[in-house]
Amino acid sequence: MTEHNPSGQNPSGDAGQDPDAGREPPAGIDTSVPQTARIWNHWLGGKDNYAADREVGDNMLKVMPDLVPIARASRYFLARAVRYLAGEVGIRQFLDVGTGLPTVDNTHEVAQRVAPESRIVYVDNDPLVLAHARALLTSSPRGATAYIDADARDPEAILTGAAETLDFSRPVALMLLGVLGHITDDDDAKSVTDRLLAGLAPGSHLVVDDGTNVIRGEEHEEAARIWNESAKPPYRLRTPEEIAGFFDGLELVEPGVVSCPLWRPDHSPFEAPVEVDIFCAVGRKP
Ligand SMILES: C[S@@+](CC[C@H](N)C(=O)[O-])C[C@H]1O[C@@H](n2cnc3c(N)ncnc32)[C@H](O)[C@@H]1O
Repeated sequence: MTEHNPSGQNPSGDAGQDPDAGREPPAGIDTSVPQTARIWNHWLGGKDNYAADREVGDNMLKVMPDLVPIARASRYFLARAVRYLAGEVGIRQFLDVGTGLPTVDNTHEVAQRVAPESRIVYVDNDPLVLAHARALLTSSPRGATAYIDADARDPEAILTGAAETLDFSRPVALMLLGVLGHITDDDDAKSVTDRLLAGLAPGSHLVVDDGTNVIRGEEHEEAARIWNESAKPPYRLRTPEEIAGFFDGLELVEPGVVSCPLWRPDHSPFEAPVEVDIFCAVGRKP
């Protein structure tokens, strides 16, 4: 399970030590090719990453220092969106596609703090996420969690597998956080979203966040270029308008499509939320 480093400003702050010394990756994991889940984990201050991931992640940070605040903003958004859906809307089922490596406040932990009977299905296609999936399967006894090793581009297989845990006659929250950018073709990304939503009951919700190029556009595009040169899978930044397109036919929940820190922020007497280049929204299927 990933260790959390809430105070770490620089993910590679412990320079001088070799964090990989004496550490064998799980069987079948190629650590020479940087992978999105492991780079994301590095930016979040976790330990489930390897030298190649840290090298690309740090090169990207040199041109786009906002990537650490972006990763954190995404996780905080996840927590607020799940709290809203479980607490205010009454959703009890979550389908989290592109889960990432386990960290603090995974979807089931946030949902089951509000409603212990919540049922969560996680989906990812990274073998290291699969190797750590047991950390995602620590459900409250009244609820359930399951993990499916599948590609987001195969929505029908995901829906079939998830039906073993979720009741598709009742509303589900479909979470696509930081994953649609990896489906770089716009039509493919829209088709994946629509086909997943087609299997869900009225009252279901779509939750999306993804990288954008409108706050620090040039730097973020340069970081994405570095990513696409060496890391897998490729990533495409989208505009907020393109992200809004995933919600066609849904009722957007207030405040609509905004930078993650601006989505229903927890009120702080000390600071106002600051926009970063990751936008999000929640929409309801009528
Ligand atoms: C940037 S991470 C985001 C993780 C998490 N959703 C979050 O917001 O913290 C993207 C995740 O999507 C997964 N992913 C990328 N492409 C995928 C695909 N085609 N099918 C399934 N998972 C995918 C990666 O393995 C990775 O775990």
